[in-house]
Amino acid sequence: MISIGLQTAAYLVAAILFILSLGGLSSQESAKRGVLFGMAGMFIAIASTMLGDHVQGHLYLLIAIAIASVIGIIVARRVQMTAMPQLVAILHSFVGLAAVLVGYGSYIDPHAQALTGSERLIHLIEIFVGVFIGAVTFTGSVVAWGKLDGKITGKAIQYKGRHLVNIVLVLISIALGILFARASGVSGMNYLMLMTAIALFIGVMLVMAIGGADMPVVVSMLNSYSGWAAAAAGFMLGNDLLIVTGALVGSSGAILSIIMCEAMNRSFLSVIFGGFGNTSGSGSQQMEGEVTATNYHEMADMLHQAQNILIVPGYGMAVAKAQYPIYELVKKLQKDGKKVTFGIHPVAGRLPGHMNVLLAEANVPYDIVLEMDEVNPEMKDTDLVMVIGANDIVNPAALEDEASPIYGMPVIEVWRAKKVIVMKRSMATGYAGIQNPLFYKENTDMLYGDAKHSVDELNKLY
Ligand code: TAP
Repeated sequence: MISIGLQTAAYLVAAILFILSLGGLSSQESAKRGVLFGMAGMFIAIASTMLGDHVQGHLYLLIAIAIASVIGIIVARRVQMTAMPQLVAILHSFVGLAAVLVGYGSYIDPHAQALTGSERLIHLIEIFVGVFIGAVTFTGSVVAWGKLDGKITGKAIQYKGRHLVNIVLVLISIALGILFARASGVSGMNYLMLMTAIALFIGVMLVMAIGGADMPVVVSMLNSYSGWAAAAAGFMLGNDLLIVTGALVGSSGAILSIIMCEAMNRSFLSVIFGGFGNTSGSGSQQMEGEVTATNYHEMADMLHQAQNILIVPGYGMAVAKAQYPIYELVKKLQKDGKKVTFGIHPVAGRLPGHMNVLLAEANVPYDIVLEMDEVNPEMKDTDLVMVIGANDIVNPAALEDEASPIYGMPVIEVWRAKKVIVMKRSMATGYAGIQNPLFYKENTDMLYGDAKHSVDELNKLY
Protein backbone atom coordinates (compact mmCIF):
# COMPACT_ATOMS: atom_id res chain seq x y z
CA MET A 1 0.00 0.00 0.00
CA ILE A 2 1.26 3.49 -0.76
CA SER A 3 0.38 6.81 0.83
CA ILE A 4 -1.69 9.50 -0.92
CA GLY A 5 1.47 11.65 -1.17
CA LEU A 6 3.43 8.93 -2.95
CA GLN A 7 0.49 8.17 -5.20
CA THR A 8 0.20 11.84 -6.20
CA ALA A 9 3.93 11.93 -6.97
CA ALA A 10 3.57 8.76 -9.09
CA TYR A 11 0.64 10.34 -10.93
CA LEU A 12 2.76 13.39 -11.67
CA VAL A 13 5.54 11.21 -13.12
CA ALA A 14 2.98 9.30 -15.21
CA ALA A 15 1.46 12.57 -16.49
CA ILE A 16 4.92 13.84 -17.50
CA LEU A 17 5.62 10.53 -19.27
CA PHE A 18 2.34 10.87 -21.19
CA ILE A 19 3.30 14.38 -22.31
CA LEU A 20 6.77 13.12 -23.37
CA SER A 21 5.01 10.28 -25.18
CA LEU A 22 2.85 12.66 -27.20
CA GLY A 23 5.93 14.78 -27.95
CA GLY A 24 7.80 11.66 -29.12
CA LEU A 25 4.99 10.65 -31.45
CA SER A 26 5.32 13.89 -33.38
CA SER A 27 8.18 12.59 -35.52
CA GLN A 28 9.03 9.18 -36.92
CA GLU A 29 12.54 9.10 -35.49
CA SER A 30 11.27 9.54 -31.93
CA ALA A 31 7.97 7.65 -32.26
CA LYS A 32 9.28 4.39 -30.74
CA ARG A 33 10.65 6.29 -27.76
CA GLY A 34 7.26 8.03 -27.46
CA VAL A 35 5.46 4.69 -27.31
CA LEU A 36 7.86 3.44 -24.63
CA PHE A 37 7.25 6.57 -22.54
CA GLY A 38 3.51 5.99 -22.89
CA MET A 39 3.84 2.35 -21.80
CA ALA A 40 5.96 3.31 -18.79
CA GLY A 41 3.48 6.05 -17.85
CA MET A 42 0.54 3.66 -18.11
CA PHE A 43 2.34 1.04 -16.00
CA ILE A 44 3.06 3.60 -13.27
CA ALA A 45 -0.53 4.88 -13.47
CA ILE A 46 -2.10 1.44 -13.09
CA ALA A 47 0.33 0.25 -10.41
CA SER A 48 0.02 3.37 -8.25
CA THR A 49 -3.79 3.36 -8.55
CA MET A 50 -3.98 -0.29 -7.56
CA LEU A 51 -1.68 0.19 -4.61
CA GLY A 52 -3.71 3.14 -3.31
CA ASP A 53 -4.93 2.88 0.30
CA HIS A 54 -8.61 2.78 -0.52
CA VAL A 55 -8.44 0.10 -3.23
CA GLN A 56 -9.79 -3.35 -2.39
CA GLY A 57 -10.03 -6.60 -4.29
CA HIS A 58 -6.53 -6.54 -5.79
CA LEU A 59 -6.79 -10.13 -6.90
CA TYR A 60 -9.87 -9.41 -9.01
CA LEU A 61 -8.19 -6.36 -10.50
CA LEU A 62 -5.09 -8.37 -11.39
CA ILE A 63 -7.16 -11.11 -12.99
CA ALA A 64 -9.14 -8.53 -15.02
CA ILE A 65 -5.94 -6.79 -16.13
CA ALA A 66 -4.32 -10.12 -17.09
CA ILE A 67 -7.33 -11.20 -19.18
CA ALA A 68 -7.63 -7.79 -20.83
CA SER A 69 -3.88 -7.69 -21.59
CA VAL A 70 -4.02 -11.10 -23.29
CA ILE A 71 -7.02 -10.00 -25.38
CA GLY A 72 -5.24 -6.73 -26.22
CA ILE A 73 -2.06 -8.48 -27.32
CA ILE A 74 -3.94 -11.00 -29.48
CA VAL A 75 -6.07 -8.32 -31.15
CA ALA A 76 -3.11 -5.99 -31.77
CA ARG A 77 -1.01 -8.79 -33.27
CA ARG A 78 -3.79 -10.05 -35.50
CA VAL A 79 -5.15 -6.80 -36.83
CA GLN A 80 -4.21 -5.98 -40.40
CA MET A 81 -2.72 -2.55 -41.02
CA THR A 82 -5.70 -1.83 -43.28
CA ALA A 83 -8.13 -2.59 -40.42
CA MET A 84 -6.36 -0.30 -37.93
CA PRO A 85 -8.87 2.58 -38.16
CA GLN A 86 -11.70 0.20 -37.27
CA LEU A 87 -9.74 -1.03 -34.27
CA VAL A 88 -9.07 2.54 -33.13
CA ALA A 89 -12.76 3.39 -33.52
CA ILE A 90 -13.94 0.39 -31.51
CA LEU A 91 -11.37 1.11 -28.77
CA HIS A 92 -12.78 4.63 -28.46
CA SER A 93 -16.20 3.08 -27.93
CA PHE A 94 -14.81 1.20 -24.90
CA VAL A 95 -13.67 4.48 -23.34
CA GLY A 96 -17.14 5.94 -23.90
CA LEU A 97 -18.82 2.88 -22.40
CA ALA A 98 -16.42 2.96 -19.44
CA ALA A 99 -17.34 6.60 -18.75
CA VAL A 100 -21.05 5.67 -18.79
CA LEU A 101 -20.51 2.76 -16.38
CA VAL A 102 -18.30 4.86 -14.09
CA GLY A 103 -21.08 7.48 -14.06
CA TYR A 104 -23.73 4.97 -13.00
CA GLY A 105 -21.35 3.42 -10.47
CA SER A 106 -20.55 6.83 -8.97
CA TYR A 107 -24.22 7.67 -8.71
CA ILE A 108 -25.13 4.64 -6.63
CA ASP A 109 -21.86 4.71 -4.65
CA PRO A 110 -22.85 5.11 -0.94
CA HIS A 111 -19.86 7.45 -0.29
CA ALA A 112 -20.99 9.78 -3.04
CA GLN A 113 -24.57 9.56 -1.80
CA ALA A 114 -23.40 10.87 1.56
CA LEU A 115 -22.26 14.14 -0.08
CA THR A 116 -24.39 17.22 0.60
CA GLY A 117 -24.85 20.81 -0.60
CA SER A 118 -22.65 22.17 -3.36
CA GLU A 119 -20.33 19.16 -3.20
CA ARG A 120 -23.22 16.89 -4.12
CA LEU A 121 -24.39 19.26 -6.84
CA ILE A 122 -20.93 19.37 -8.47
CA HIS A 123 -20.63 15.59 -8.27
CA LEU A 124 -24.04 15.12 -9.90
CA ILE A 125 -23.12 17.52 -12.72
CA GLU A 126 -19.87 15.59 -13.27
CA ILE A 127 -21.84 12.35 -13.50
CA PHE A 128 -24.45 13.76 -15.85
CA VAL A 129 -21.95 15.40 -18.22
CA GLY A 130 -19.63 12.37 -18.09
CA VAL A 131 -22.42 9.93 -18.93
CA PHE A 132 -23.65 12.19 -21.75
CA ILE A 133 -20.21 12.49 -23.42
CA GLY A 134 -19.52 8.80 -22.79
CA ALA A 135 -22.79 7.66 -24.38
CA VAL A 136 -22.33 9.88 -27.47
CA THR A 137 -18.76 8.57 -27.81
CA PHE A 138 -19.90 4.97 -27.39
CA THR A 139 -22.52 4.79 -30.13
CA GLY A 140 -20.69 7.29 -32.36
CA SER A 141 -17.60 5.06 -32.27
CA VAL A 142 -19.59 1.88 -32.89
CA VAL A 143 -21.18 3.48 -35.97
CA ALA A 144 -17.75 4.74 -37.13
CA TRP A 145 -16.41 1.20 -36.73
CA GLY A 146 -19.34 -0.17 -38.76
CA LYS A 147 -18.81 2.38 -41.53
CA LEU A 148 -15.05 1.80 -41.73
CA ASP A 149 -15.54 -1.96 -41.68
CA GLY A 150 -18.14 -1.79 -44.44
CA LYS A 151 -20.87 -3.15 -42.15
CA ILE A 152 -22.81 0.13 -42.44
CA THR A 153 -23.07 2.19 -45.62
CA GLY A 154 -20.35 4.81 -46.06
CA LYS A 155 -22.94 7.22 -47.43
CA ALA A 156 -24.12 10.09 -45.27
CA ILE A 157 -27.58 9.24 -43.92
CA GLN A 158 -29.34 12.52 -43.44
CA TYR A 159 -32.88 13.71 -42.94
CA LYS A 160 -34.32 17.20 -43.09
CA GLY A 161 -34.35 19.15 -39.86
CA ARG A 162 -31.85 16.85 -38.14
CA HIS A 163 -29.87 19.79 -36.75
CA LEU A 164 -33.04 21.08 -35.12
CA VAL A 165 -33.83 17.61 -33.74
CA ASN A 166 -30.29 17.38 -32.30
CA ILE A 167 -30.61 20.80 -30.66
CA VAL A 168 -34.02 19.87 -29.17
CA LEU A 169 -32.56 16.59 -27.85
CA VAL A 170 -29.66 18.46 -26.22
CA LEU A 171 -32.14 20.92 -24.64
CA ILE A 172 -34.24 18.01 -23.32
CA SER A 173 -31.04 16.50 -21.88
CA ILE A 174 -30.24 19.78 -20.11
CA ALA A 175 -33.76 19.85 -18.64
CA LEU A 176 -33.34 16.24 -17.49
CA GLY A 177 -30.00 17.29 -15.96
CA ILE A 178 -31.74 19.95 -13.86
CA LEU A 179 -34.34 17.42 -12.64
CA PHE A 180 -31.53 14.94 -11.96
CA ALA A 181 -29.57 17.45 -9.88
CA ARG A 182 -32.68 18.29 -7.83
CA ALA A 183 -33.66 14.66 -7.12
CA SER A 184 -32.79 13.33 -3.68
CA GLY A 185 -30.99 10.04 -2.96
CA VAL A 186 -30.85 7.90 -6.09
CA SER A 187 -34.33 8.90 -7.25
CA GLY A 188 -32.82 10.72 -10.23
CA MET A 189 -31.92 7.37 -11.85
CA ASN A 190 -34.82 7.60 -14.32
CA TYR A 191 -33.64 11.00 -15.57
CA LEU A 192 -30.12 9.64 -15.94
CA MET A 193 -31.34 6.63 -17.90
CA LEU A 194 -33.56 8.73 -20.16
CA MET A 195 -30.69 11.11 -20.90
CA THR A 196 -28.40 8.13 -21.61
CA ALA A 197 -30.89 6.83 -24.19
CA ILE A 198 -31.03 10.27 -25.83
CA ALA A 199 -27.23 10.60 -25.85
CA LEU A 200 -26.85 7.11 -27.37
CA PHE A 201 -29.27 8.17 -30.12
CA ILE A 202 -27.42 11.47 -30.73
CA GLY A 203 -24.12 9.54 -31.11
CA VAL A 204 -25.68 7.31 -33.80
CA MET A 205 -27.28 10.19 -35.69
CA LEU A 206 -24.17 12.40 -35.57
CA VAL A 207 -21.90 9.84 -37.19
CA MET A 208 -24.51 8.35 -39.53
CA ALA A 209 -24.88 11.84 -41.02
CA ILE A 210 -21.19 11.97 -41.98
CA GLY A 211 -20.04 10.61 -45.33
CA GLY A 212 -17.08 8.37 -46.11
CA ALA A 213 -14.71 11.13 -47.19
CA ASP A 214 -14.91 12.74 -43.74
CA MET A 215 -14.44 9.51 -41.78
CA PRO A 216 -10.77 10.16 -40.86
CA VAL A 217 -11.78 13.37 -39.16
CA VAL A 218 -14.62 11.59 -37.39
CA VAL A 219 -12.27 8.95 -35.97
CA SER A 220 -9.91 11.63 -34.69
CA MET A 221 -12.86 13.62 -33.32
CA LEU A 222 -14.15 10.53 -31.50
CA ASN A 223 -10.64 10.12 -30.14
CA SER A 224 -11.03 13.61 -28.72
CA TYR A 225 -14.52 12.83 -27.33
CA SER A 226 -13.18 9.67 -25.69
CA GLY A 227 -10.49 11.83 -24.01
CA TRP A 228 -13.12 14.19 -22.61
CA ALA A 229 -15.18 11.18 -21.49
CA ALA A 230 -12.11 9.86 -19.63
CA ALA A 231 -11.51 13.30 -18.09
CA ALA A 232 -15.14 13.38 -16.95
CA ALA A 233 -14.66 9.92 -15.40
CA GLY A 234 -11.57 11.35 -13.65
CA PHE A 235 -13.71 14.10 -12.10
CA MET A 236 -16.31 11.56 -10.95
CA LEU A 237 -13.68 9.36 -9.35
CA GLY A 238 -11.62 12.27 -8.03
CA ASN A 239 -8.63 10.89 -9.95
CA ASP A 240 -6.26 13.69 -11.04
CA LEU A 241 -4.27 11.53 -13.42
CA LEU A 242 -7.36 10.46 -15.31
CA ILE A 243 -8.36 14.12 -15.63
CA VAL A 244 -4.91 15.09 -16.97
CA THR A 245 -4.70 12.10 -19.32
CA GLY A 246 -8.24 12.63 -20.56
CA ALA A 247 -7.55 16.31 -21.21
CA LEU A 248 -4.35 15.40 -23.09
CA VAL A 249 -6.18 12.92 -25.32
CA GLY A 250 -9.17 15.26 -25.69
CA SER A 251 -7.14 18.26 -26.75
CA SER A 252 -4.62 16.40 -28.91
CA GLY A 253 -7.51 14.63 -30.69
CA ALA A 254 -9.20 17.98 -31.27
CA ILE A 255 -5.98 19.53 -32.64
CA LEU A 256 -5.46 16.53 -34.95
CA SER A 257 -9.07 16.87 -36.15
CA ILE A 258 -8.50 20.53 -37.00
CA ILE A 259 -5.24 19.75 -38.84
CA MET A 260 -7.00 17.01 -40.81
CA CYS A 261 -9.94 19.29 -41.61
CA GLU A 262 -7.48 21.77 -43.06
CA ALA A 263 -5.80 18.98 -45.08
CA MET A 264 -9.17 17.91 -46.50
CA ASN A 265 -10.57 21.45 -46.76
CA ARG A 266 -13.52 20.65 -44.49
CA SER A 267 -14.85 23.03 -41.91
CA PHE A 268 -14.31 21.62 -38.43
CA LEU A 269 -17.72 22.72 -37.17
CA SER A 270 -19.54 21.22 -40.13
CA VAL A 271 -17.86 17.87 -39.44
CA ILE A 272 -18.72 18.02 -35.72
CA PHE A 273 -22.35 18.71 -36.48
CA GLY A 274 -22.31 16.07 -39.18
CA GLY A 275 -23.66 15.84 -42.64
CA PHE A 276 -20.92 17.01 -44.93
CA GLY A 277 -18.61 14.99 -47.13
CA ASN A 278 -21.35 12.90 -48.66
CA THR A 279 -19.75 10.42 -51.03
CA SER A 280 -22.74 9.88 -53.27
CA GLY A 281 -21.99 12.70 -55.71
CA SER A 282 -19.41 12.15 -58.39
CA GLY A 283 -19.04 15.73 -59.55
CA SER A 284 -20.24 17.27 -62.75
CA GLN A 285 -17.02 17.06 -64.69
CA GLN A 286 -17.16 15.08 -67.92
CA MET A 287 -14.07 12.95 -68.44
CA GLU A 288 -12.13 14.26 -71.43
CA GLY A 289 -9.38 12.40 -73.22
CA GLU A 290 -8.52 8.75 -73.44
CA VAL A 291 -7.17 6.29 -70.95
CA THR A 292 -3.87 4.79 -72.07
CA ALA A 293 -2.23 1.72 -70.55
CA THR A 294 1.41 0.75 -70.41
CA ASN A 295 3.24 -2.50 -69.61
CA TYR A 296 6.13 -3.63 -67.42
CA HIS A 297 8.74 -3.41 -70.19
CA GLU A 298 7.81 0.13 -71.17
CA MET A 299 7.69 1.12 -67.53
CA ALA A 300 11.16 -0.33 -66.92
CA ASP A 301 12.44 1.75 -69.88
CA MET A 302 10.85 4.86 -68.39
CA LEU A 303 12.61 4.15 -65.11
CA HIS A 304 15.94 3.87 -66.96
CA GLN A 305 15.42 7.22 -68.65
CA ALA A 306 14.11 9.23 -65.69
CA GLN A 307 16.51 11.02 -63.37
CA ASN A 308 14.11 12.55 -60.89
CA ILE A 309 11.44 10.10 -59.71
CA LEU A 310 8.59 10.67 -57.28
CA ILE A 311 6.59 7.82 -55.73
CA VAL A 312 3.11 8.65 -54.41
CA PRO A 313 1.71 5.78 -52.36
CA GLY A 314 -1.94 5.40 -51.33
CA TYR A 315 -4.34 2.95 -49.76
CA GLY A 316 -3.68 0.32 -52.48
CA MET A 317 -0.03 0.06 -51.43
CA ALA A 318 -1.23 -0.88 -47.95
CA VAL A 319 -3.68 -3.45 -49.31
CA ALA A 320 -1.05 -5.03 -51.57
CA LYS A 321 1.74 -4.76 -48.94
CA ALA A 322 3.88 -3.38 -51.75
CA GLN A 323 6.15 -1.27 -49.53
CA TYR A 324 8.86 -3.95 -49.33
CA PRO A 325 9.42 -4.52 -53.09
CA ILE A 326 9.08 -0.76 -53.68
CA TYR A 327 12.02 -0.09 -51.42
CA GLU A 328 14.00 -2.81 -53.22
CA LEU A 329 13.35 -0.96 -56.48
CA VAL A 330 14.20 2.41 -54.92
CA LYS A 331 17.60 1.10 -53.77
CA LYS A 332 18.40 -0.06 -57.32
CA LEU A 333 17.34 3.28 -58.77
CA GLN A 334 19.44 5.16 -56.24
CA LYS A 335 22.41 2.97 -57.07
CA ASP A 336 22.09 4.20 -60.66
CA GLY A 337 22.38 7.79 -59.38
CA LYS A 338 18.69 8.68 -59.66
CA LYS A 339 16.93 10.98 -57.24
CA VAL A 340 13.98 9.11 -55.75
CA THR A 341 11.56 10.57 -53.20
CA PHE A 342 8.21 9.61 -51.72
CA GLY A 343 5.40 12.18 -51.57
CA ILE A 344 2.96 11.64 -48.72
CA HIS A 345 -0.51 13.17 -48.62
CA PRO A 346 -1.79 13.90 -45.07
CA VAL A 347 -4.84 11.66 -45.57
CA ALA A 348 -3.33 8.98 -47.82
CA GLY A 349 -4.52 5.52 -46.83
CA ARG A 350 -7.02 5.13 -44.06
CA LEU A 351 -5.44 6.64 -40.96
CA PRO A 352 -3.13 9.54 -40.15
CA GLY A 353 0.47 8.61 -40.85
CA HIS A 354 -0.61 5.35 -42.54
CA MET A 355 1.95 5.58 -45.37
CA ASN A 356 4.74 6.76 -43.06
CA VAL A 357 4.25 3.72 -40.83
CA LEU A 358 4.30 1.30 -43.79
CA LEU A 359 7.41 2.86 -45.31
CA ALA A 360 9.16 2.87 -41.92
CA GLU A 361 8.23 -0.83 -41.62
CA ALA A 362 10.09 -1.45 -44.89
CA ASN A 363 13.10 0.57 -43.58
CA VAL A 364 12.72 3.40 -46.09
CA PRO A 365 14.95 6.23 -44.76
CA TYR A 366 12.96 9.20 -43.42
CA ASP A 367 14.90 11.78 -45.40
CA ILE A 368 13.44 10.62 -48.73
CA VAL A 369 9.87 10.60 -47.39
CA LEU A 370 8.52 14.10 -48.05
CA GLU A 371 5.21 15.78 -47.35
CA MET A 372 2.74 17.05 -49.95
CA ASP A 373 3.79 20.67 -49.42
CA GLU A 374 7.41 19.74 -50.11
CA VAL A 375 6.82 17.80 -53.33
CA ASN A 376 4.20 20.00 -55.01
CA PRO A 377 6.56 22.94 -55.72
CA GLU A 378 9.10 20.49 -57.26
CA MET A 379 6.56 18.77 -59.50
CA LYS A 380 7.48 20.56 -62.75
CA ASP A 381 11.05 19.24 -62.52
CA THR A 382 9.96 15.67 -61.83
CA ASP A 383 10.57 13.28 -64.76
CA LEU A 384 8.39 10.42 -63.61
CA VAL A 385 5.73 9.96 -60.94
CA MET A 386 4.75 6.45 -59.86
CA VAL A 387 1.31 6.60 -58.24
CA ILE A 388 1.03 3.34 -56.33
CA GLY A 389 -2.49 2.42 -55.22
CA ALA A 390 -3.51 6.05 -54.70
CA ASN A 391 -6.56 7.71 -56.18
CA ASP A 392 -8.40 10.51 -54.30
CA ILE A 393 -5.19 12.15 -53.11
CA VAL A 394 -4.02 12.74 -56.71
CA ASN A 395 -7.41 13.74 -58.14
CA PRO A 396 -7.26 17.04 -60.09
CA ALA A 397 -11.05 17.44 -59.62
CA ALA A 398 -10.24 18.62 -56.10
CA LEU A 399 -8.81 21.76 -57.70
CA GLU A 400 -10.78 21.98 -60.95
CA ASP A 401 -14.34 20.78 -60.39
CA GLU A 402 -16.42 22.91 -58.03
CA ALA A 403 -19.18 20.29 -58.02
CA SER A 404 -16.84 17.55 -56.82
CA PRO A 405 -17.36 16.36 -53.23
CA ILE A 406 -13.62 16.72 -52.67
CA TYR A 407 -13.39 20.21 -54.22
CA GLY A 408 -10.98 22.34 -52.23
CA MET A 409 -9.04 19.43 -50.72
CA PRO A 410 -5.32 19.98 -51.35
CA VAL A 411 -3.91 17.12 -53.45
CA ILE A 412 -0.53 16.00 -54.76
CA GLU A 413 -0.48 17.62 -58.18
CA VAL A 414 1.21 14.75 -60.00
CA TRP A 415 -0.21 15.73 -63.42
CA ARG A 416 2.20 18.70 -63.48
CA ALA A 417 5.14 16.27 -63.72
CA LYS A 418 6.52 15.22 -67.11
CA LYS A 419 5.13 11.67 -66.93
CA VAL A 420 2.73 9.88 -64.58
CA ILE A 421 2.20 6.13 -64.21
CA VAL A 422 -0.79 5.04 -62.12
CA MET A 423 -0.40 1.53 -60.73
CA LYS A 424 -3.75 0.03 -59.67
CA ARG A 425 -5.89 -2.93 -60.59
CA SER A 426 -8.66 -1.27 -62.59
CA MET A 427 -10.42 2.03 -63.27
CA ALA A 428 -12.31 1.66 -59.99
CA THR A 429 -12.86 4.72 -57.84
CA GLY A 430 -11.17 5.30 -54.48
CA TYR A 431 -12.60 5.99 -51.05
CA ALA A 432 -14.60 9.08 -52.02
CA GLY A 433 -16.29 7.09 -54.80
CA ILE A 434 -15.54 9.64 -57.52
CA GLN A 435 -14.03 9.55 -61.02
CA ASN A 436 -10.44 10.68 -61.44
CA PRO A 437 -9.66 12.88 -64.49
CA LEU A 438 -5.95 12.20 -63.90
CA PHE A 439 -6.31 8.79 -65.58
CA TYR A 440 -7.46 10.56 -68.79
CA LYS A 441 -4.60 13.04 -68.99
CA GLU A 442 -2.21 12.90 -71.91
CA ASN A 443 0.92 12.49 -69.79
CA THR A 444 -0.65 9.69 -67.71
CA ASP A 445 -0.52 5.93 -68.37
CA MET A 446 -2.17 3.18 -66.34
CA LEU A 447 -0.21 0.10 -65.28
CA TYR A 448 -2.95 -2.32 -64.28
CA GLY A 449 -2.41 -5.02 -61.67
CA ASP A 450 -1.96 -5.64 -57.99
CA ALA A 451 0.61 -3.13 -56.75
CA LYS A 452 2.91 -5.73 -55.21
CA HIS A 453 2.80 -7.95 -58.27
CA SER A 454 3.55 -4.98 -60.55
CA VAL A 455 6.51 -3.81 -58.47
CA ASP A 456 7.82 -7.39 -58.28
CA GLU A 457 7.70 -7.53 -62.09
CA LEU A 458 9.51 -4.20 -62.34
CA ASN A 459 12.15 -5.47 -59.96
CA LYS A 460 12.76 -8.40 -62.33
CA LEU A 461 13.10 -6.11 -65.34
CA TYR A 462 15.07 -3.24 -63.83
P1 TAP B 1 -8.16 5.75 -52.36
O1 TAP B 1 -8.65 7.02 -52.94
O2 TAP B 1 -9.06 4.99 -51.47
O3 TAP B 1 -7.71 4.85 -53.59
C1 TAP B 1 -7.04 3.66 -53.39
C2 TAP B 1 -6.91 2.95 -54.73
O4 TAP B 1 -6.07 1.83 -54.50
C3 TAP B 1 -8.22 2.42 -55.27
O5 TAP B 1 -8.73 3.25 -56.29
C4 TAP B 1 -7.88 1.01 -55.76
O6 TAP B 1 -8.11 0.92 -57.16
C5 TAP B 1 -6.40 0.87 -55.47
N1 TAP B 1 -6.07 -0.45 -54.93
C6 TAP B 1 -6.72 -1.17 -54.00
N2 TAP B 1 -6.12 -2.34 -53.79
C7 TAP B 1 -5.04 -2.36 -54.62
C8 TAP B 1 -4.01 -3.31 -54.87
N3 TAP B 1 -3.97 -4.50 -54.24
N4 TAP B 1 -3.07 -3.00 -55.78
C9 TAP B 1 -3.10 -1.82 -56.45
N5 TAP B 1 -4.05 -0.89 -56.25
C10 TAP B 1 -5.00 -1.17 -55.34
O7 TAP B 1 -6.81 5.96 -51.53
P2 TAP B 1 -5.91 7.26 -51.35
O8 TAP B 1 -5.59 7.88 -52.65
O9 TAP B 1 -4.81 6.81 -50.43
O10 TAP B 1 -6.85 8.29 -50.60
C11 TAP B 1 -7.28 8.11 -49.29
C12 TAP B 1 -8.78 8.30 -49.21
O11 TAP B 1 -9.24 7.68 -48.01
C13 TAP B 1 -9.21 9.74 -49.16
O12 TAP B 1 -10.46 9.91 -49.78
C14 TAP B 1 -9.32 10.01 -47.67
O13 TAP B 1 -10.18 11.08 -47.37
C15 TAP B 1 -9.90 8.68 -47.21
N6 TAP B 1 -9.62 8.33 -45.82
C16 TAP B 1 -8.43 8.67 -45.28
C17 TAP B 1 -8.16 8.36 -43.99
C18 TAP B 1 -6.84 8.81 -43.43
S1 TAP B 1 -6.76 9.53 -42.04
N7 TAP B 1 -5.75 8.64 -44.13
C19 TAP B 1 -9.08 7.61 -43.22
C20 TAP B 1 -10.30 7.21 -43.83
C21 TAP B 1 -10.54 7.58 -45.15
P3 TAP B 1 -8.34 -0.53 -57.84
O14 TAP B 1 -9.50 -1.13 -57.15
O15 TAP B 1 -8.60 -0.19 -59.28
O16 TAP B 1 -7.08 -1.31 -57.66
